[in-house]
Parts: sequence; C-alpha cells; structure tokens
Amino acid sequence: MTSPVFIFDFDSTLVRIETLEALADIALSDAPDAAAKKAEIASLTDQAMSGQLDFGTALRRRLELLALTRSHVEALADRILDEASASIRRNVDFFERHAERVYILSGGFREVIAPLAARLGIAADHVLANDLIYDAEGRVTGVDDANPLSRDNGKPEVIKALNLTGPVVMVGDGWTDAEVKLAGAADRFYAFTEVVSRQKVIEVADATAASLDEVLFAEGVSGRWSYPRNRVRMLLLENIHPAAVERLEEAGYTVETIKGALDEDDLIEAIKGVHVLGIRSKTNVSKRVLEQADRLLAVAAFCIGTNQIDLEAAAEHGVAVFNAPYSNTRSVVELAIGLTIVLMRDVADKSAAMHRGEWNKSAVGSRELRGKTLGIVGYGAIGSQLSVLAEGLGMRVIFHDLSERLALGNARRMRSLDALLAEADVVSLHVDGRKDNADVIGAAQFAKMKPGVLFLNLSRGHVVDVDALAEAVTSGRIAGAAVDVFPEEPRTNADPFASPLQGLKNVILSPHIGGSTEEAQEAIAEFAAERLLGYLNRGDTTFCVNLPNVQLAEVSRAHRLLHIHRNQPGVLAELNRALSTAGFNILGQHLKTDERTGYVITDVDRDYDPEVLKVLRDLPGTVRFRMLH
Ligand SMILES: NC(=O)c1ccc[n+]([C@@H]2O[C@H](COP(=O)([O-])OP(=O)(O)OC[C@H]3O[C@@H](n4cnc5c(N)ncnc54)[C@H](O)[C@@H]3O)[C@@H](O)[C@H]2O)c1
Repeated sequence: MTSPVFIFDFDSTLVRIETLEALADIALSDAPDAAAKKAEIASLTDQAMSGQLDFGTALRRRLELLALTRSHVEALADRILDEASASIRRNVDFFERHAERVYILSGGFREVIAPLAARLGIAADHVLANDLIYDAEGRVTGVDDANPLSRDNGKPEVIKALNLTGPVVMVGDGWTDAEVKLAGAADRFYAFTEVVSRQKVIEVADATAASLDEVLFAEGVSGRWSYPRNRVRMLLLENIHPAAVERLEEAGYTVETIKGALDEDDLIEAIKGVHVLGIRSKTNVSKRVLEQADRLLAVAAFCIGTNQIDLEAAAEHGVAVFNAPYSNTRSVVELAIGLTIVLMRDVADKSAAMHRGEWNKSAVGSRELRGKTLGIVGYGAIGSQLSVLAEGLGMRVIFHDLSERLALGNARRMRSLDALLAEADVVSLHVDGRKDNADVIGAAQFAKMKPGVLFLNLSRGHVVDVDALAEAVTSGRIAGAAVDVFPEEPRTNADPFASPLQGLKNVILSPHIGGSTEEAQEAIAEFAAERLLGYLNRGDTTFCVNLPNVQLAEVSRAHRLLHIHRNQPGVLAELNRALSTAGFNILGQHLKTDERTGYVITDVDRDYDPEVLKVLRDLPGTVRFRMLH
C-alpha cells in the first residue's frame, strides 16, 4: 500500500497562531488605532477561514491595514519555532521520517514558514506558500499575484498541479483547506481542531482531529504516540486536586472528574472505557470492579494507603497501581504534634465550655510536652518524622516497629509493643493499614498503658478497637485521645457520623484530615500524576505497588513493547523467539519479576509488522501487552 502524502496547512495547524494577526501585533505595536485595526484583521481572518469571504480579497484587505516591513516579517520568523502546535512539537520525528511525503500548503508567507519547515526536515520545494513583494525600502507592497495561493480556491489548484501519487491527506483548520477536499484534490480531509474549531469546516471533513496523533493513528502511521493521548480516558473521583487534572490534560490526556466516591455498582458502570482511574481513600476498587474494567491500564490512589484497592486482582489484570506514599507525611506529623499539645492542656473541652459560657481557669491536669515520653507505634515515613519533630520539642521518643528501622536522633527502639506501652506518656499509632493490623490496640493493650496516658490514632480506623478505647477513656485509664480515623467513616460530608467515642471527656475527633492540607493535596496530585505519566508514556513502574518496579528513561527512535505476564518459566524466551523470528532488532531490554508477575520492556527498531504484535499478545502467560510509539 502506498503511504499517503500529507499536506498540512500552516496557520492554526502547524502553528498555534494566525500569521497575519501575529504580524499585526508586531507591526501595530505602537499604532494609536492598533486595537481597531487588529479587530478588523481578526474579523477578516475569521470570515475567510469560515468561508464567508473569498481568501484573495481577505488577504489583500488585511495587508492594506498593516504597514508591513521586512523587519516585521523577520521578527515573526525568528520566533515561529516557539509557536509550533503542541502535537506537532512532539511529532517532529514523524516529519523527519516522512519528509518526502509531506507538504506545507498555506496562504501565509514563505519567510515565516521556512524556519519551521527546516526544523521538520521539509525541503523548500515542499513549502507551498505566498511570496511577499517588497519595495526598495523593505516595505511590503503586496503578494505575488501569479501565485495561485494569493487567490480564492488556490489550494486545490496547487495540489492538482503537483500530480501526486498515492492517497492525498489534507490536514487543516480552515475553509481553504476544506475547499481542497470539496474540489477533489485530496482523498481525505481532517479538520484540525487543536488550535481552533470551526463548525463549517468540521461539517465537510472526513474526520475531526484534535491533534496530529489522531491523524497519524487514523492513517495507520506510527507517530510519537502509538495511541492518541486524547483518546486515553482518565476518570478522577473524590475531588482530586486540580493540579493533577491540569498536569494530565497538559500532557494530552482526556480527564473527567467526579466530586464524590462511587459505590461498587456505580463504579462498574462508570469504569467502562476508562483507561486510568484516580481515587482517594473512599473508593473501593474490588475484584468485581477490575473484572468489569474493559480498558483499565492503571489506578492512581491520590493518597497514601492502597488497601481500598484489590492489588492482587489488579496485578492479575495487568493494571498498575500507584500511590503517593510520602506527599502528606508532614501534614500528619504536624497535626499529631498539635493534637498532643491540645490534649495535654485539655484545650478542646475548655474551649467547648467557653462556647457554652463557662470560664474554667485551672492548671490541674495540664502538662507540658517537654520531658514526656512519646511512644510511636509504626516507625515508617510518618512515625519517623514525628520522632524528629517531637524530639525537637523536648520529648523523649521510643518506638516499636515490626520491621528493622533506623532510630533517628535519640529515639529508642522497643523490642515489643508491650514494652513501649508500659513506658509511654503519649502513644501515637502510625502503622499501615494491612489487614493483620485490625484491632492491634484493644482492651488488652489499653490495660498495659500507663494510667493517665494520652492516645492518638491518625493511621487507619480498623487498627483500634474503638469500643475498648471508649471504655478506657470512660474508666479514666486514658486521660485523653485524639482520633482522626474510624472503622466506619461516612462516604461523603452529607452522610452522618456515629462512634462510641462521641461525647467523651478530652477526646478530640477529627474527620480523617491528618493528611488533608492544601500543600499535601497539591503534592499528592503532582506526585501521583507524574507516576501515571511515567507509566503511560514510558512504561516506568517506579513506586508501582503491585507490579515489579522498573525505572525507565524516555524512549527515542525506537518502539517500546511492554509485556506483563504471569511469572512462569519460559515467557521471556518465547517473547524473544517471536521477536527474532519477526526480524526485530532489539535495542534494549529490561526484565523484572516478583513472585506473581513478570514485566519485560523491549525497545526495538522502527520497522514492525502489526501481525507480530498479535503473536506477542497471544503468548502463553500474557496478562497485558502494550506498545508505545
Ligand atoms: N490521617 C490521615 O489523614 C493519614 C494520612 C496519611 C497517612 N495515614 C496513615 O498513616 C499510617 C502510616 O503512614 P506511613 O506513610 O508512615 O506508612 P509507612 O508504611 O511508611 O509506615 C508504616 C510502618 O508501620 C510498621 N508497622 C506495620 N504494622 C505494624 C505493627 N502492627 N506494629 C508495629 N509496626 C507496624 C511498618 O513496618 C512501617 O514501618 C498509614 O496507615 C496511613 O494510611 C493517615
């Protein structure tokens, strides 16, 4: 099959500007009537591009409004590379490889187009554009009238004169591009809408393309991305910070957001056709959800914990799960410190009393942090940072962790939880949410704490037996508690909250806000979005919680094949056999496995046969196969 000849319009297609409007900005920068003239130029451009005014007339009238000189034109040419449209920039490689079958066809001016054409590797004789005429002083006096592009319906005439072989594909945003199709000079016409979208043009087009990737995908030509990014659908639930939406959209993906969480049935409904799901802690991604997700590649938990996701089922479906493990660490630590001080001084109850009109000034039971022993259970990211800040405030720190953890500062590691409980004046829980941690602190543990101890849980709700905690507070064994997480938490702010801890003395309840600060939300959004982009764009699984972690650089001048398979013997050998039978030249290969899954990344040279991709997809043990670029 002969590959198509691609003909690109320039203004608002290859570049995100209209040449004459940009020239007007330069030429009229000091003119007193600049605004009126610019408005007239913009209106003439619009009339011509939407087919209401013939192109030749519009061009001449616009030139008359500008006292254009060679230096104005040169100034625009100098910065034209910066004006290239986003999808053109990321597909420079496509132009370089197909330069012989690419033309630029424009009613704009050759001098302005030339630098971009050169950057894209397009020869001068493939740039078909208007020629400005200058007088001896370098003033523009008009355009070369002999050039058909200076007239109405010039574009089809110029294409026909080229006598091109193979299908002709026209890509442009304007009516003059649509005319190419209407005059039969192109076999296919894509209305290019990345910069502007014109209804009249879209109506006569064979297809609309929101980016060059769309055109290349539809034409079966491999571009920068094997699958146009704007066709990758991302669904972000639970009010995820706009920084994530912004970052993902900026990278070219289509992002849809929903404010609240979804229950299982609603999620099953919503996830159809979705490639990436973003959640926080309130959405459960169950096995059933994963079974029904027909396109899902990745789930991003825009929070720390991932126990709301069935990680094993996700791995079985080749769905990568990412989170943002450290982005809100500091927020939790600061709240834990603040709550400890407030508990030590009984501020919450005293404040509530004052709101009722009661004045209760007393030092009884109020204590300083300084010199007290803080017992940290779970010395991970949060626990260890709390250790540093608490020591800074003069506390003695002891900790207990199931794993070997480096003691920071003067903190002392305790061999057992019981030993810690026996010594601590304040017990703060920072264990992770693994299932085994259910009721790690219950009646037996409260009984082992020092009388008058303060207790904090800002980790996960199910790790504490709240009935036992209520009992311990009521009996006076515990002098105060701050609880931020609960076994049953309302799904939305509209749902009611109930707990045996309500109404108890010196008990501060907060609605799971330990990590909820503006700074943390933004940091989480950025971190998780970057992990997603790394996976989608490069196959990078750094920080992935359920697939083997492989850190990968951007691929250039190669296709990247991503193969996730069950960790069984022989898959890599089979894969490489298939690749070598197909004559692939392997440029680089990475393999990483965990007990369940294998992940092979293979960079191969450009030429590939789509049939081979099918073979790779069908290899025994394959969970997921994806090709980048
Ligand atoms: N309240 C909030 O808004 C909020 C915000 C962020 C994180 N969190 C929660 O805080 C907790 C800690 O987060 P992190 O980032 O420090 O996690 P992390 O994984 O870095 O640290 C957890 C530590 O706990 C240890 N551990 C687990 N079970 C234990 C047990 N039974 N006894 C002793 N040690 C045990 C682990 O070995 C690990 O060192 C998590 O449960 C997380 O979900 C809550």
